This record gives sequence, structure tokens and C-alpha cells, in this order.
Amino acid sequence: MSAQLLDGKSLAADIRAGLQEDIAAVLQARGATPRLAVVTCSQDAAAGAYLRAKLKAAAETGLAAQAYPCAEGPASLLRRLGEDPAVDGIILEQPVPKGGDAAEAFAAIPPAKDVEGVNPLSYGRFFLCKSSAEIAASGVFPPCTVSAMILLLERSRLPAAGKEAVVVGRSEILGRPAAHYLSALDATVTLCHSRTVDLAAHVRRADIVFACLGRAGFIMGGWIKPGAVVVDAGMNRLGEAWVGDVESAAAAERAAFITPVPGGVGPVTTAVVLANTVAAAKRGLRA
Ligand SMILES: NC(=O)c1ccc[n+]([C@@H]2O[C@H](COP(=O)([O-])OP(=O)(O)OC[C@H]3O[C@@H](n4cnc5c(N)ncnc54)[C@H](OP(=O)(O)O)[C@@H]3O)[C@@H](O)[C@H]2O)c1
Repeated sequence: MSAQLLDGKSLAADIRAGLQEDIAAVLQARGATPRLAVVTCSQDAAAGAYLRAKLKAAAETGLAAQAYPCAEGPASLLRRLGEDPAVDGIILEQPVPKGGDAAEAFAAIPPAKDVEGVNPLSYGRFFLCKSSAEIAASGVFPPCTVSAMILLLERSRLPAAGKEAVVVGRSEILGRPAAHYLSALDATVTLCHSRTVDLAAHVRRADIVFACLGRAGFIMGGWIKPGAVVVDAGMNRLGEAWVGDVESAAAAERAAFITPVPGGVGPVTTAVVLANTVAAAKRGLRA
């Protein structure tokens, strides 16, 4: 079997094209396009590359976007942007400062502008939703990479209900909320992590694998159940190349569907951030 690619680039292009009407409506109503503020605390090259990609995607889509480097703790800057009526969406670029600083920073982003779903109130409300209908009705933005992974399934009409889903990685922004979303879609979910005994055995029985651990090619192709769906969020630098968490060529021999890395989850995540910013701007018009 050779897996069909879940093409993130084309899904991202469709999402961004679908925003044009709403962007025009916001522009007409208030004389300014939706605006995204990207706060960045890191000097590292990968963070710079992510940032440039986001600003470029925003500009190409017709949103205003600006980077805000923070020399010290980001919380006061985030609060100021939260109070700025010209700003619709705020994101705090990874890597974020560890420990108390990160918690304070996430809490400083007002839920109405929290387009990545990291504020504890948004996060908690998301976890209180028991179904995808409740998530949609709640008005919160789920963590954006998780939304992207779910959209990749939905676009190819791959149902999660009744399936065995295995999520590898349990971080706050990725694995844990991904497991919750899959459960809300009625999958039967196993959440694996670094202390899981016999990870291979869990992956082997998965109809859906969500790879969220950040270790290049760690999930072996031979572990993948024939006909499974593999969604790989991993972004690992290997020399000059980016690779995912799954041994992709071997996995594609067994899976029915697989995301490429790069070109899978990443561009859809960016498109989700832009879509959420436009949605936040539209809500602002009604407020
Ligand atoms: N495409 C995108 O838009 C996007 C967005 C965000 C992140 N990412 C990528 O996704 C990956 C994960 O990011 P993250 O922020 O969630 O990472 P993280 O905070 O470092 O979390 C990694 C998780 O993987 C688990 N893990 C580590 N080694 C493992 C092993 N050998 N077996 C099983 N589980 C293991 C850890 O378990 P413990 O909890 O036990 O430590 C942890 O829960 C990274 O490559 C990141 O670049 C991509």
C-alpha cells in the first residue's frame, strides 16, 4: 500500500481563500483589516523562520500582522496588546519562557483575542466540551495545531468516531488537547508519553495515529497498522531538512493516509491562526 497524502498546503490555501469575504467585510465596517500581533521572546533561528512564515502568510492573505519582540517577561506586553482595540488576535511564539513566566503570559492574553487557545480560561472551556458540536458552540478557539490536525481528518472525510486513536505526546499545547478533541469526536483514545511501556504495541493497534512528541522519525513505519491514518505534527530539524516524528517513507507503505512533513500540519496551523484572527475581528464588530 502507498498512502494518500493529507496535503496541508492545499488545505491551508483553501482556508485562506475562504477568509476573503470576511476580511473585506471587516475592512468595510471599520476601515482596517483584521490585525494579528505575534509576540516573540526567542532569538533562535527556528523561531525566526516560523515567525517569518506567519507574517508572510498573513500578508498574502490580506491581514495586518506585526511582530513584537519582548526583551523581558512577555506578560506586560501581552496585556498592553490585549487592551489595544486595533489588535484582534494575539499569539505568543514558541519557545515561550518556562515556568511561572509562561503561565502568567498565557493568562495575560484575553480569551477574545486568544487565537491559539492558550489562555487557561479558553483552555478550560475547551476541555469542558464533550462533543465537537459543543466545541463549535463554545466560541473558544481550541489549541490551533490540534484544530489543524482535526481539519486534516475532516477534509478527507476520515471519521474518528469508533476508531482506536493513539496520541503520542501529552504536552499542554498539543498532545493532551489533541487526545481530548479526538475523544469529543467519539474516538477511543490512548494518550502515550515518555513513560509509556511498549509504545510500539499501542501504535500497532491504532486506526489513527497523532504523532506529537518532537523526536525525528521515532515512530517506526513498521509499527503502523495497515490502512491507518497518520497525522504527524512533529517538526524536527535534521541538518538542513525538517522531518516529522514518524519514519515517513516506511509508514507510507502501510498507512492509507499520511501527512507530509513539511507541508502537512504546519501550514494548516498557520491558516487556523489567521482564520481565528478574522473570526475574532468579526466578533469585535458585533461587540
Ligand atoms: N506543526 C505545528 O504547527 C507544530 C506546532 C506545535 C508543535 N509542533 C511540533 O510538535 C512536536 C511536539 O511539540 P510539543 O511542544 O508538544 O513538545 P513537548 O512539550 O516537548 O512534549 C513532547 C511530548 O512527547 C513525549 N515524549 C517524548 N519522548 C517520548 C518517547 N520516547 N515516547 C513517547 N512519548 C515521548 C513527552 O512525554 P512526557 O510528558 O512524559 O515528557 C511529551 O509529552 C515538536 O516537534 C514541535 O516542533 C508542531
